[in-house]
Amino acid sequence: MYVAHLSLTDFRSYPQVELPLDPGITALVGPNGQGKTNLVEAIGYVATLGSHRVPSDAALVRAGTNRAVVRAKVVREERATLVEVEITPGKANRARINGGSPGRARDVLGILRTVLFAPEDLALVKGDPDGRRRFLDDLLVQLTPRIAGVLSDYERVLRQRSALLKSAAAATRARSGADLRTLDVWDAKLAQTGAQVVVARQALVAALRPRAAEAYHQVSAGQGELGLTYRSSLDAALGQADDEPAVAPGAGVEVVEARLLEAMGRLRSKEIERGVCLVGPHRDDLHLTLGDLPAKGYASHGESWSVALALRLASYALLTHGVDDAGAWAADWGPDGEPVLILDDVFAELDTRRRERLAELVAPARQVLVTAAVPQDVPEPLAGARVDVMAGEVARAR
Ligand SMILES: Nc1ncnc2c1ncn2[C@@H]1O[C@H](COP(=O)(O)OP(=O)(O)OP(=O)(O)O)[C@@H](O)[C@H]1O
Ligand SMILES: [Mg+2]
Repeated sequence: MYVAHLSLTDFRSYPQVELPLDPGITALVGPNGQGKTNLVEAIGYVATLGSHRVPSDAALVRAGTNRAVVRAKVVREERATLVEVEITPGKANRARINGGSPGRARDVLGILRTVLFAPEDLALVKGDPDGRRRFLDDLLVQLTPRIAGVLSDYERVLRQRSALLKSAAAATRARSGADLRTLDVWDAKLAQTGAQVVVARQALVAALRPRAAEAYHQVSAGQGELGLTYRSSLDAALGQADDEPAVAPGAGVEVVEARLLEAMGRLRSKEIERGVCLVGPHRDDLHLTLGDLPAKGYASHGESWSVALALRLASYALLTHGVDDAGAWAADWGPDGEPVLILDDVFAELDTRRRERLAELVAPARQVLVTAAVPQDVPEPLAGARVDVMAGEVARAR
């Protein structure tokens, strides 16, 4: 698939902009702060309904306005689909497909798929677990859009249960007695939705593992072995040792659900005392290792970059080929599902070797969008069309 046209209204720095695009490689070139990342961020938003730079939508809307619109014409197998997403911070976003009536934003998921490489990716290796959870969840949503519903149900349940624990904590302190029956209901809901999230993430990590290890070899000079493990908060809650997970990889939803309930049972007084949900997928992590050492805190800067690139390249492989063993994710894609590759400012950050390897690996993709401050930052294998971005204007240079 590829994006044939992008149109923005009041998105970031753009009051209005039209950007026609071709399949193949396009470099967006212009000095700092001119709006290159804003363009590719908008394309990523259509695919994931989130930004790679900010956790909430407020910054995406042009200052002084209260609504942004992103329109993208997505072509797949010669058929064009027009996707229109309206971003209104503080309200539910709306979306339209092919000019139809406005519906839930979530309904556009799956029409466009992207893999975005950006300097922010380094935080996948060096940063906190929430960035890694978001990486897994964003990829899951692109692989199976219906998981978006499960994830938002989980977030809602988590908010409600946390609020209830907080009031139970306050009631306990005031010795007025907490309403524990309602808590039982929310325990069950959390276990039920949480188990689906855990099982989906575990399957994803299993599918990513060999692809990420291979990609790591390709971008780093072949030193070290990249390992990926899903670390469940159940392990700590149920007192499991590191090498003995509380739920075996591949365990079904019912097993995980039962263990989540068991953990909440054990943790109840602690949770009430602290007023927070101590177990569930919101506390899990994707543990990354190089050889025997954790990547976080141990890997060098260059190695960390290779790990981040490997995670994105593995995502690209999964979104292109699906999961061979189970086949479940690839089944409903149909042909021409290869994601659009976006490389935002990454080449300036990489040494020559990694830069060349990455360029070679991504060059054959159906559509590649690269941003760079100067044309020299775009490696040779990615010489293609060029769009100059300057002061909110975009112009085709070749
Ligand atoms: N919500 C917003 N409203 C108005 N302007 C915004 C908004 N968000 C960002 N900007 C402006 O957009 C510009 C940044 O654009 P962008 O990040 O796309 O630059 P860039 O061309 O990628 O630069 P660099 O080469 O430094 O990465 C900044 O000048 C910033 O002030
Ligand atoms: Mg930029």
